[in-house]
Amino acid sequence: MALDEFLEELDRLTAEALLTFTAAGDAEALERARVEFLGARSGRLKNVQKSLANVDREDKPAAGKRFNDVKTAIESGFQDARQRLIASGPSAAETAGLDITLPGSRPRLGHVHPITRTIEDLKEIMGRLGFSVAAGPEVEDEWHNFEALNIPQSHPARDPLENFFLATAARHEPAAGNSPGGKGPSGSQGGDRPLLLRSQTSTVQIRVMEHAEPPVRIISLGRVYRPDTADATHYPMFHQIEGLLIDRHVTMADLKSVLRLFARSYFGGDVHIRFRPSFFPFTEPSVEVDMSWNDAWIEMGGAGMVDPNVLRAVGYDPDQVSGFAFGLGVERVCARRHQVTDIREFYKNDVRFLEQF
Ligand code: DAH
Repeated sequence: MALDEFLEELDRLTAEALLTFTAAGDAEALERARVEFLGARSGRLKNVQKSLANVDREDKPAAGKRFNDVKTAIESGFQDARQRLIASGPSAAETAGLDITLPGSRPRLGHVHPITRTIEDLKEIMGRLGFSVAAGPEVEDEWHNFEALNIPQSHPARDPLENFFLATAARHEPAAGNSPGGKGPSGSQGGDRPLLLRSQTSTVQIRVMEHAEPPVRIISLGRVYRPDTADATHYPMFHQIEGLLIDRHVTMADLKSVLRLFARSYFGGDVHIRFRPSFFPFTEPSVEVDMSWNDAWIEMGGAGMVDPNVLRAVGYDPDQVSGFAFGLGVERVCARRHQVTDIREFYKNDVRFLEQF
């Protein structure tokens, strides 16, 4: 076979192949074209390669070199056509308005607020110690917030500037709900009862004892309100956990061991508790409760033996029963455990803070 003839053959094949590749409108057509021209066994390029054997001996080097060039050209023509199809052909996902090449967006899961979580933990721990959960209203009267708790009218805690009194007062209802032996709310029937946002959960002690006979073993967790300026350790609304146990022969030792068990369960084994003498109108004796964890004492709240005046106010006989009570700050225990140094963080609703719990 003459060299010219062979080269002509190659040129024709190249032109035809490139045209066919360019014309291929979809992946299927392109694949058919690939098999026709580049098929490994009987593709047309392969057939031309076979005819190389017939070229005159002295022309073989030139024919072989040209064959290789053509082969490269046809192969890259095929690759170009393929790229063109990929780039231009809209995929099913794209037609549906979806770009599957975009990085996925992670759905944001909500969290239980750290204070809510702490409340659940505390309920669980105290539940194991036999305390059931009691609740009371956040809008209270002075009987439950002060008087029944042995806080006289002259006490500074009753100062209107220390409390959120409401502009509206409740009509006084007959002293229903108070145990027959109790003194009952002061103030005559039919008068107006001033209302306030409760300043302590100790109110629930009264509400429970008014309706239950001893023995009593309850905790109550909830919001309390005081007109404090917000700073790292104060907030006008915060949470307390109140505990009350009334039975025969209850002592200070029972109080201390319950609080110690509670602290060890919540913080872990190496926590210590300490009592400092104090005063609360509704307990006698009264103590401040400190807890030490990671080498620092932190004041958690107050506690003591329920004052006989409180027992009498709800119709209990102080000669028959005694009891202890405690009230701790939920934000304090939560902050202590998670090393939060500013309790305002709990109420900023900043997800970067909340997500850490
Ligand atoms: N109610 C007190 C307060 O808010 C805390 C407290 C002290 C509660 C002693 C108690 C108690 O039950 O026995 O500061």
